[in-house]
Amino acid sequence: MILSGRAKLAGVMGWPVGHSRSPRLHGYWLAHYGIDGAYVPFPVAPEDLTRALRALPLFGIAGVNLTVPHKEKALPAMDTLTSAARRIGAVNTVVVRDGKLHGDNTDGFGFVESLRSSVPEWRPAAGPATLIGAGGAARAILVALIEAGVPRICLVNRTEARAEALAREFGGSVDVIPWADRETALEGVAFLVNTTTLGMTGQPPLDLALDRLPPTAAVCDIVYTPLETALLAAARARGNPSIDGLGMLLHQARPGFESWFGVAPAVTAQLRTFVIQGL
Ligand code: ATR
Repeated sequence: MILSGRAKLAGVMGWPVGHSRSPRLHGYWLAHYGIDGAYVPFPVAPEDLTRALRALPLFGIAGVNLTVPHKEKALPAMDTLTSAARRIGAVNTVVVRDGKLHGDNTDGFGFVESLRSSVPEWRPAAGPATLIGAGGAARAILVALIEAGVPRICLVNRTEARAEALAREFGGSVDVIPWADRETALEGVAFLVNTTTLGMTGQPPLDLALDRLPPTAAVCDIVYTPLETALLAAARARGNPSIDGLGMLLHQARPGFESWFGVAPAVTAQLRTFVIQGL
């Protein structure tokens, strides 16, 4: 796409940012919809984050995504926050409007949209969910599942105190099960999700036998390198619906793209294939 003088600009801030898949993803949509715009990587060091964010309106930039390590640190630099960003305690999407920075968090939205599109028959009320992990990704997914109306959520984390802190913060429908007893947390659940980095290329696999998991329970991994983790392979082998982590990445990008470029983009099989080719 050759840009005009009216081109809309957006990008992703990270440190480092070279690993980010977002330029390829947004670049596909810009080309697909023939939009006069660009989405570029911004390597921004942690100590420069606030100044870099504050400079966005000065350059007329429509907004940015934030990735590691900026999502939590960006919070105080925002003029307004959506309730999702406030509850999750992190910003992944910044929209510049009238010279002000509006912080949103679309990670939980992306997760739930990915789940809904892969398993259309899934309903929040179908039953309890178990989450493995208690880091930033777990927080976003926990908030989204509570808001969607999942009746009970069980947290299992190696460092139990982190899971306890989340349970205290998010109230009565969240229970904690010790790491050593994690297989008991699979009994009777409608939905299991790994939010840790376990199973990612270069990391140890998630050590979790699925024998106690109901055969209808959906199994989701936020890891997308590889696309099929050992957890998802085990789920598939026993006939459980399985959802890989790429869908969350694709769907979390939708609200930002629509705000910056004015087109609601679709997550399609072609987009998925294109992003996979770049993994
Ligand atoms: P993110 O923000 O991406 O979720 P994080 O805050 O570093 O990243 O959280 C990583 C998660 O993976 C945590 O739940 C972490 O468990 P701890 O809280 O005990 O650190 C989990 N994790 C990472 N490596 C692990 C391992 N080898 N065994 C068990 N859990 C692990």
